[in-house]
Amino acid sequence: ERIPVICIDGPTASGKGTVAAALARQLGYHFLDSGAIYRVTALAAVRAGLAPDAGNEARIAALAQTLPVRFAGDRVLLGSDDVSQAIRTEEVGVNASRVSAMPAVRAALVALQHGFLRLPGLVADGRDMGTVIFPQAPLKIYLTASAARRAERRHKQLISKGFSASIGDLCAALQARDARDGSRSVAPLTPAQDALVLDNSDLTIDETVARVLAEWQARQ
Ligand code: C5P
Repeated sequence: ERIPVICIDGPTASGKGTVAAALARQLGYHFLDSGAIYRVTALAAVRAGLAPDAGNEARIAALAQTLPVRFAGDRVLLGSDDVSQAIRTEEVGVNASRVSAMPAVRAALVALQHGFLRLPGLVADGRDMGTVIFPQAPLKIYLTASAARRAERRHKQLISKGFSASIGDLCAALQARDARDGSRSVAPLTPAQDALVLDNSDLTIDETVARVLAEWQARQ
């Protein structure tokens, strides 16, 4: 049987994580937060004394190959350590963006991501879900929003988690991250050929979820 999968890809802070999680909940599907996997990889590398530099690619890939990451509800575990908070800092985000540009690291994490595809279905959130990991997906959404809107959203998110940040710094940082994610040689951030590009600058999360659900229902 073909297991249904919906891919939500897009730039940082486009709302895709929130939208993907809400979709998974409403459909009763599994949820893959692939960004969290790259973040955990970056955190594990730094904790192992491996800076996210090209010279450490093979060692970080070896670590990724057997990464003891587990998702328990909304908790993310690295071994027995709850890293749900630790992986959400900007520093880890930047390091994740560095390790994710390493082809050997991406290759090492493919099987782990494929393992999330289980009945009754999956909503997968990331950068290359539709282009590389689940190219067979019947619905691929490329969710985007203006940089200013995304900086505002990331700001709110950080504040609610007790971190401090300035919107201007965040906007510059996310544009730098977009540039790195979009220009890397493997799995650059780009819409799949058959993706539906959805700009949600002027949509609420609920409106965005409703749009994606309507697309999904139209395909059943
Ligand atoms: O989505 P999130 O901000 O958690 O992702 C952190 C970083 O991991 C991204 O900036 C990107 O470099 C990388 N990533 C990726 N491929 C994915 C998901 C995330 O390269 N499928």
